[in-house]
Amino acid sequence: MNKIFISKKVIYVFYIFVVMLFVYAFVVFTQFEHTKHSIREVLFDKNKEYIDNIAQNIVNNLQKEVTPLQSLKTKLQNDKKLRKKLEQNLELFVTKKYRYIYIVTKEKNKKRFLFLLDGAKEDKSDFLEEFIPLKMKKWLEVYQTKQPLFFQNKDTDGLWMTYLYPVMIQNKIEGILAIDFSLTEEKNIESILDVFIQSSKTFIFLSLLVLSIVLLLLFYEMKKTKIIKEQSAKIRQFNVTLQKRIEEEVEKNREKDRQILEQSRLAQLGEMLGMIAHQWRQPLSAISAASITLNMKAQMDMLEKQSTIEIADKIADLTQHLSKTIDDFRDFFKNTKEKKEITYHELINTTLEIVEASLKNKNIDVIIEEESQEVFQTYANELKQVLLNLIKNAEDILLEKKVEKPYIKIITQGNRLKVYDNGGGIPEDIIDKIFDPYFSTKSLNGTGLGLYMSKTIIEEHCQGKLSVKNEKDGAVFTIELPSREKDEKDNNR
Ligand SMILES: Nc1ncnc2c1ncn2[C@@H]1O[C@H](COP(=O)(O)OP(=O)(O)OP(=O)(O)O)[C@@H](O)[C@H]1O
Ligand SMILES: [Mg+2]
Repeated sequence: MNKIFISKKVIYVFYIFVVMLFVYAFVVFTQFEHTKHSIREVLFDKNKEYIDNIAQNIVNNLQKEVTPLQSLKTKLQNDKKLRKKLEQNLELFVTKKYRYIYIVTKEKNKKRFLFLLDGAKEDKSDFLEEFIPLKMKKWLEVYQTKQPLFFQNKDTDGLWMTYLYPVMIQNKIEGILAIDFSLTEEKNIESILDVFIQSSKTFIFLSLLVLSIVLLLLFYEMKKTKIIKEQSAKIRQFNVTLQKRIEEEVEKNREKDRQILEQSRLAQLGEMLGMIAHQWRQPLSAISAASITLNMKAQMDMLEKQSTIEIADKIADLTQHLSKTIDDFRDFFKNTKEKKEITYHELINTTLEIVEASLKNKNIDVIIEEESQEVFQTYANELKQVLLNLIKNAEDILLEKKVEKPYIKIITQGNRLKVYDNGGGIPEDIIDKIFDPYFSTKSLNGTGLGLYMSKTIIEEHCQGKLSVKNEKDGAVFTIELPSREKDEKDNNR
């Protein structure tokens, strides 16, 4: 699985960043605007105080020079020296910031103002020049209230303020001292703040953009992780189901094998009865002959003690033989689950003991060519059943084909045992199927389980190999058992 890993630390840092961003945005959008206004007010108040001081100073000086008997206008008209002095006095206060300092007066009973004095160096207007300013409304206001007044000049470039201070002589308003001053510097501070606010906003905007992208990616990744998780859960579930089904199938197969084994055992039991019959025929007829002899001798009063004992012994021997045959058969079909040491020689002998009589009876020659000396540690009884199956199949084909001079040849070599017959072989079109369960060409008495069971026994129980091929005269079945040394090596591994 392509695992997506986002460490918890990263997520925490991310959360902290988001919270900080929102706090910052809040501060920028609310507090900074507020601060901007506060700064303006503070600056304005500072200026106000300072200008008020200037204004008071100038007016105090003026009051000292002007006697109450004359109006300010008349006094200045008559006394050029005083005017000059006052003008110079005003000029002292002129700076780059407080550029224009002048005094205006209202004409009696007229809504007209006259220009009395001017402190600006560059702009020396003539005394008493008639002046109809745009600011007349404010001047009138000062004349009425007799109170100083601040106001903003919006008609000029930049940020300009004007301070109007009433010139009072003997409680009578004689004129207005006007100071125009610029707030451009303060404006600069504001612009810096503005730039700062603006760039903060841009920063917030960009951060939000990045944040959205990150969130989107995160969401996408989470969705992907979720899908992968769901899929792996499904796969896990599927695996569990599959595992269960495999186990069920394996169990079913085992059950089927058990049933097949049972069936084939029953079939073999039938065959066994046939073989027992063959085995018994000769001793039974011998017993029968002996009993007839006894009978006849008795009838003819020729029973002698010695011959009676001999005949009785013979009968006893024969019955013993019959009994042994039964034991042999029983042992043969006993399904011992233990491995036993066995050689091919023992295997052939014990199997032939059972089947030889029946083969002889059918005139089938049994040829044995033994070379193998190997001892195998294996399921001997099951192995005997395999050999019996192969011999029985050979016998069947030989009888079916009514072969002249039928023979079965058993050859051993190393770990190999081969069973030949001269029954003509297996047709090529069925040779691949003969090991399948229930495959049989025998319409009667064929279960089709013999070779299937044989293959299972050799390959699965004994870890060997069972194969078939056709040769000149007939089929050859080869059993290959694992050599003991190899087996031991495997076990030690
Ligand atoms: N030696 C052989 N020569 C020719 N055909 C053979 C030989 N051995 C087996 N066969 C073919 O393989 C088939 C399958 O054999 P298998 O032993 O599995 O079943 P079967 O012999 O038909 O039945 P059962 O073993 O129950 O008697 C046989 O029906 C037969 O056609
Ligand atoms: Mg068979």
